[in-house]
Amino acid sequence: MEAEIILRDVKQDDLPLTFKFENEPEGYRMAAFPPRTREGFMAHWEKIMKDPRNILKTVLVDGEVAGGVVSWEQEGERLVGYWLGKEYWGRGIATRALSIFLDQVKMRPLYARVAKHNGASIRVLEKCGFKIIGHDKGFPFEGQEIEEVIMELGTIGGYVQ
Ligand SMILES: CC(C)(COP(=O)(O)OP(=O)(O)OC[C@H]1O[C@@H](n2cnc3c(N)ncnc32)[C@H](O)[C@@H]1OP(=O)(O)O)[C@@H](O)C(=O)NCCC(=O)NCCS
Repeated sequence: MEAEIILRDVKQDDLPLTFKFENEPEGYRMAAFPPRTREGFMAHWEKIMKDPRNILKTVLVDGEVAGGVVSWEQEGERLVGYWLGKEYWGRGIATRALSIFLDQVKMRPLYARVAKHNGASIRVLEKCGFKIIGHDKGFPFEGQEIEEVIMELGTIGGYVQ
């Protein structure tokens, strides 16, 4: 049977687990996102949870915290990002969670910046209707130059199989 997926607002109690997910080496290498210390992570979340412009959702899979989908403003653009614990990968969960998010949050255009080597994430975005609109240099990660793909969900677009 297909897992039940629910998105709800992030609660303080979710943070120890989402911190653990962000510290899984396969995950942070995929995202090219350097892991933070527990203190750094908690301070960041304390700050972003106070800003009403941020949309911060926890993904529940059959009632368990599996990760999150977040959206924030950066240089006048609205970005989206997501992260799942490794044990939840490869089951279509990110695609379903992002689709639910896009049904709930109607702001467009939405942008995502993804490391070029993160094929799974690019595919998730494409399945949800995002299109590649450009490339940029990302922050260096583990001593490597990272190329980012910039993806946009404009005013027209939706789920594509
Ligand atoms: C990226 C991530 C969200 C994907 O989650 P997921 O639930 O496994 O994704 P889904 O199963 O919904 O979809 C993955 C798709 O990518 C495909 N895929 C998997 N690995 C791939 C690869 N290396 N290259 C290309 N496509 C790939 C899958 O086949 C699937 O496509 P399909 O449905 O057409 O078969 C998850 O791995 C994760 O949280 N990673 C760490 C954090 C991260 O990278 N976040 C995104 C930052 S931009």
